[in-house]
Order: sequence, then structure tokens, then C-alpha cells
Amino acid sequence: MSPRQLHLNGFLKGAGEYHAGWRVPGSPPDAGVSFPFLAEQVRRLEAATFDSVFLPDLLGVPDDPPEVGERVAWSNDTLEPTTVLAALTTLTRHIGLVATASTSYHQPYTIARIFASLDHLSRGRAGWNVVTSLNDAEARNFGLPAHLPHDVRYRRAEEFFDVVAGLWDSFDDGAVRADQATGAFFDPAGLHWLDHHGEFFDVAGPLNIRRPPQGRPVIAQAGSSGPGRALAARIADVVFTRALPLPDAQAYYASVKDQAAGFGRDPEHLLVLPELATVVAPTRAEAEDRFAAVRELLDPRVALADVQYWAGVDLSGLPPDAPLPPLPPGNNRSAGAQAEIYAQAERGGLTIGDLVRIVADGDGAIIGTPADVADHIEEYFTGGAADGFNVSFPWLPQTLIDFTELVVPELRRRGLFRSEYTGTTLRDHLGLPRPASRHAGD
Ligand SMILES: Cc1cc2nc3c(=O)[nH]c(=O)nc-3n(C[C@H](O)[C@H](O)[C@H](O)COP(=O)(O)O)c2cc1C
Repeated sequence: MSPRQLHLNGFLKGAGEYHAGWRVPGSPPDAGVSFPFLAEQVRRLEAATFDSVFLPDLLGVPDDPPEVGERVAWSNDTLEPTTVLAALTTLTRHIGLVATASTSYHQPYTIARIFASLDHLSRGRAGWNVVTSLNDAEARNFGLPAHLPHDVRYRRAEEFFDVVAGLWDSFDDGAVRADQATGAFFDPAGLHWLDHHGEFFDVAGPLNIRRPPQGRPVIAQAGSSGPGRALAARIADVVFTRALPLPDAQAYYASVKDQAAGFGRDPEHLLVLPELATVVAPTRAEAEDRFAAVRELLDPRVALADVQYWAGVDLSGLPPDAPLPPLPPGNNRSAGAQAEIYAQAERGGLTIGDLVRIVADGDGAIIGTPADVADHIEEYFTGGAADGFNVSFPWLPQTLIDFTELVVPELRRRGLFRSEYTGTTLRDHLGLPRPASRHAGD
């Protein structure tokens, strides 16, 4: 058996993940909406044999103060990701194509149809990042005054997923025969109505598409609150996590795999991919210089707004040397991100100013040589903290080019990463079995 191999997903976000990435000289002014620009990045990731590319999504413009909002690129100007994936299916042959879609503000029949379609269009390379969404601005675009309460949105997410998965099993594998001689297009014994009636949804089914090539498109999940982890442990093939210190990442890894086993799953079929941002250059000094030049471009108010957004508290009027304020009652933000930031602040005795500096300094980005980055990856991968990484790129295209040209060869030299694709579907790349239909034993 070949040694365990890393899984790498490329996380693409407009002009890059770092808030000032769009201001880097040479960054295309239309990076968020330019298909040629995005396709070029995806081609590079495919040439570097990444497992997949992932496009995040929001359903509205967050409520930042105007002096911050006007300085932010991605959340103001971004393409709808499943539309982009559809276009990418025609330009790529191997790489998996993963997009976010919200369970809080969509309907399951629509999402089942979109991702089944993407799986057919891509011949088995589609993945869905199941999110519960993040803020009130999104809710207001769907007829609600505020984001659904945390427990409600996770109950809805659980039911939403079950409906979607049920719809994907509408037709048994092979039930559509298109038998021209008899005139029977499909075998009626192989068709299943869902007939779902639950707390949030009533869906009759069946889905008007034969079973997706992967049986079920790959499921990614990134919520890290208690209910978020429980959902991931039950349904996810891949979990995206925030970048965490090694002991926290190990604890998360062990706990989510245990939880998956508790659902009767093989823990090896749940892959944990922490986020990893890098600025790489042949020497450490060069990498630090490159980052320092881009850091200059970041408005500190944008970094403060980032801390405020993920901590989920109002920091306006508080001095930089103050600690984070106590959480107000009824707070309804990303509970996982919030808990991680509060724990980080508590552990390090960090003030608001410290937290802002951490964001401005790249929020855990590894800034160094290819060997520095490969050492970090290897430590997490062999240390029970990761099955691979969700690689984000502070500014594009340079940090992506550097990762693929400098880090990937180093990972291959260490025998940690493939040098060619051996399968055809995203499940093949991830080493995951194709799920049987729930009706297979009927
Ligand atoms: C790497 C990563 C990517 C994410 N991408 C998205 C996204 O595209 N859209 C979104 O609404 N939430 C996204 N999230 C947020 C979560 O999926 C989740 O819905 C949110 O954190 C709330 O869940 P929680 O309360 O369980 O933490 C992402 C989180 C992480 C760590």
C-alpha cells in the first residue's frame, strides 16, 4: 500500500484572502468577477495536482461601517460560485470543484438539483460546502429581519442535508436504461419518491436527474460550534477548519473523528483540512519583505472590523489595550469562530490591539521558505492534526504561483503528495468510497 498522502484543496477568494490583497500592484481590478483570471488560477492548481478547488460564498454584503465596507473587495463583488463551477467543468479535467451553498436561505430541492447537475457536468468532480450562513445582512435578503437562531439553523441544516441526500437517491444506479427497443426510458422499480415531511420541509421528490456519478457529491462542512461539529461528523467527507495551534488542531481532529465513529462511520472517511495561508520565497528574509510590503496596504480599521466580525461583538469605542468585552446575551454569530477567538485571547492574555495585529500579520499565515511551509504541513499531517490542508492565498496570483512552484515540489520530494492524478472523480482523489444508494438493499 502506498504511504498516506496529503489532500490539498485550493481556497480561492477574489484577489486573495488577505484583506489588502486586492491592493497589491498588478492585481486585476476585476479579480472578483473575471472568469479568465479565476480559470487561470484553477488551471495552475490542476497542474499542481490539487485534489480540489473551493469557492466560498456569502448571500449579502456584511454590515460593516461605511469607512470599512468601502475598503473590502471580496464580499462586495463576487460571482455566484456554482455558476462559476459550471463554467470550470468545461476547462478542467481532473480537479474537484467545490462550492458553498447555504442551508439557511435556500431550498433543498434546488440545491440537490444544482449539485447533481454539477456532478454530471464534471463527471464526478463536484462538492458542496454545507454552511448555515453567517450574518443578519444575508437574512434580510431572504425576507427575515435577522439571522436564524443558531440552534434553529443547525436543525434546519440537518434536515436540509437529509432531504438533499434522499433526492440524490431518487433513481437507483442503472435505473435509467433508455431502452430504445422496448420504449422504457427507466425501470420503475428503480425510482423512489422521497415523500419527506419534517419540521422545515415538505418535499415529495423524486429529483428529475439520474443518480450523480459520485453517488453523492463530496460533502464539505466548516462549522466548528458543537452543533457544527456534530453535523460534520455525521455528514461530511471533508471538514474545513480554521488554522489552529497544533494542540488545538490535534484535539479537534481526534474529537471529530471520534464523533464520526459514534455515527457508525469509518473515521478515515472524514478528512480534516485546516486552513493554511502561506507567503513563500526562496529565503525567509525575502518572504518577510514581500509580506511587509503588502501589510503596509492594510487599513487598520479593516483588520479591527475582521476581529469584530468573527468575535461577534461590538468593539467600537474600546481602546486597543482593552480585553475583549464579555459576550452580550443572545449573540447569534459563528459560535465556533467566536469560541476560538475568545479562547485564543484568554490563553495569550491578548488585548483587542493584539488581536488586530494578529489579523494584520496574516492571521497565522506561514511566512518563510518552502522547507518552512513543508515542515509545518508535515508536522500537522504526521502529528494527528490534519489529513491535508485547505490552502488559501493571501494575494493572487503570486502566492498561489509560489505555493505550486516552490512548496508542492518539496512536498513531493518528501513523498507526501501525489505527482499525478490516479483516479477520475473527486472521491477517487480523496480516497473515499462511492456511497451506495439508501435503497440499494431494498
Ligand atoms: C475555511 C472555512 C470556510 C468557510 N466558508 C464559508 C462560506 O463560504 N460561507 C459561509 O456562509 N460560511 C463559511 N464558513 C463558516 C462556516 O461554515 C459556518 O457556517 C459558520 O462558521 C457558523 O457555524 P458555527 O456556528 O458552527 O461556527 C467557513 C468557515 C471556514 C472555517
